[in-house]
Amino acid sequence: MTLSDDLKATVRAIQDYPKPGIVFRDITTLLGNAWAFRRAVDELVQPWAGSKIDKVAGMEARGFILGGAVAHQVSAGFVPIRKKGKLPHTTVRIAYSLEYGLDEMEMHADAIKPGERVILIDDLIATGGTAEGAVKLLRQIGADVVAACFIIDLPELGGAAKLRAMNVPVRTLMTFD
Ligand code: PRP
Ligand code: ADE
Repeated sequence: MTLSDDLKATVRAIQDYPKPGIVFRDITTLLGNAWAFRRAVDELVQPWAGSKIDKVAGMEARGFILGGAVAHQVSAGFVPIRKKGKLPHTTVRIAYSLEYGLDEMEMHADAIKPGERVILIDDLIATGGTAEGAVKLLRQIGADVVAACFIIDLPELGGAAKLRAMNVPVRTLMTFD
């Protein structure tokens, strides 16, 4: 078994959640496994160990859990990208679509200084709508998006390819059909 196989075995599949036809990849079982959580965090940013990262940005909600741990790991600040209406100060906002819906996300306009090196973190990339919206917000306020890292890639939905076409290096630890 490879590392990816061992980590993959800790992710639970839930049929028809949150809508019929969706196979939901549930990472709460990975997060609840001390070995798997540590390995996932370590592996996500392994290519950038030793390089200067100013901020880690994480998408609500699962990207917060992983992003906070990764920010600690690389000694960077953490920036939350939230669903609309949750942040108290001046924000930049964007509408986006994902595998099972539509929403809007925002971040504080002063969360990142122009030119700061940022790694974007989330648990999973499917259509890439969420990550594409996050990259656009980050670039709007002048961030240098060094990479986007996800535990899970659903390659048939094309999200990772979409990000690479935006010149964002993408790292993922496992795939599901
Ligand atoms: C999930 C996941 C990603 C997004 C990926 O979040 O954590 O953020 O969907 O889908 P996409 O690549 O098709 O855009 P969700 O919006 O379900 O939010 P949650 O973390 O609050 O459950
Ligand atoms: N976000 C978008 N698609 C998803 C899926 N299939 N499982 C878990 N989170 C998701």
